[in-house]
Amino acid sequence: MIGLGIESSCDETSASILQNGRRVLSLKINSQIAIHLPFQGVVPELASRNHLLKINSILEESLNEAGISFSDLDYIAVTHRPGLIGSLMVGLQTAKTIHLLTGIPLIGVNHLEAHIYAPFLEYQNFNGPQFPHGKKFFALLVSGGNTALFQYQKADKLLLAGNTLDDAAGEAFDKIAKMLNLGYPGGPPIERLARQSSFNENRSLEELPVPAILKGTPRTEIKFSFSGIKTAIYRLIKKYRLDEKNINLIKADKNIFQHDGLEYSLADLCYSLQYRIAELLGRNIRNLLNFYSFDEEQDSRYFIFAGGVAANSFIRGYLGKIIANFGYELAVPPAILCTDNGAMVAAAGYYKFLLHDVDDLSLEAYSGSKFDELRIS
Ligand code: KG4
Repeated sequence: MIGLGIESSCDETSASILQNGRRVLSLKINSQIAIHLPFQGVVPELASRNHLLKINSILEESLNEAGISFSDLDYIAVTHRPGLIGSLMVGLQTAKTIHLLTGIPLIGVNHLEAHIYAPFLEYQNFNGPQFPHGKKFFALLVSGGNTALFQYQKADKLLLAGNTLDDAAGEAFDKIAKMLNLGYPGGPPIERLARQSSFNENRSLEELPVPAILKGTPRTEIKFSFSGIKTAIYRLIKKYRLDEKNINLIKADKNIFQHDGLEYSLADLCYSLQYRIAELLGRNIRNLLNFYSFDEEQDSRYFIFAGGVAANSFIRGYLGKIIANFGYELAVPPAILCTDNGAMVAAAGYYKFLLHDVDDLSLEAYSGSKFDELRIS
């Protein structure tokens, strides 16, 4: 079965051709990073305008690379929620137009669910495991717009185990990078700098507290909060006047401030931030797995980590160890499939198509998404 996946929910215009819900025959992604870079964040109007400019050529290139035409397609999957409304509409209108002209079945896909299929794809040198069809499993989705833990039950049925109370983890990376003038998106430069720190899990900046709001929460509760970390770093920046130094010109390992008699570098600051974010994610995974009783018949041992932040190798390693202690196996896509892409959308469409869950021209774009909750205690 051959499917087309179209993605335009934020700042990537992407189209992909997928075979049997798994093998990526082509994947085209136009990233708008350079367009949003001067603003150090996504500007919705610029995003939708650029999707419009690129969508046709991206679509054409993806068909050409796979060596197919519209008549070879069994279905068209498109992200229709959640995301920036003007951006979503570009992909959705494109998909609806193809559907109208060709009659190929149209399938609206939830972007968050689509991320969950990414570790199971087969693309270039990456050969993901077989999708645990018919089983339930957990997925942590961490991107610029979302940080949430889900239980996947079946296509189009995700239960929300916990969500962020404020910022998403990727948003924290992006906003802190902006404060430090490290560029956009913030995750990659922060990860690169953190690698140069001599810090390790036993030594990171005390000044980065676990957000107070989470300190008193019962161990059965799954809640994320990243704005406390952002504020803690903002205070450090002000206290040590880091914004007055030209961070871009400072070597990562050069000490830039003294705290409690010890000297710290920009790399240490980045390490501490990354570590705190990993810790918060890990804490919630522990809370979840401590109270969940695994059922051999119904549950899969795969634990998915997906979304842009899953590209961070330190966080992958940190969470991988926690998950392994509970007898689960972390399934993470390669970096190219962590960020938004059409292949994961085509995969999500495939599993809906198997359930005969198709849409028509009344399919609309929605900026938000609601999920039923998973109760673990
Ligand atoms: O999934 P994604 O492309 O979707 C959104 O547009 O939200 O994720 C983008 C996010 C950005 O916040 C970016 O800073 C973060 O993923 N990110 C990373 C890394 N690469 C991308 N965060 C931490 N470490 C990375 N290596």
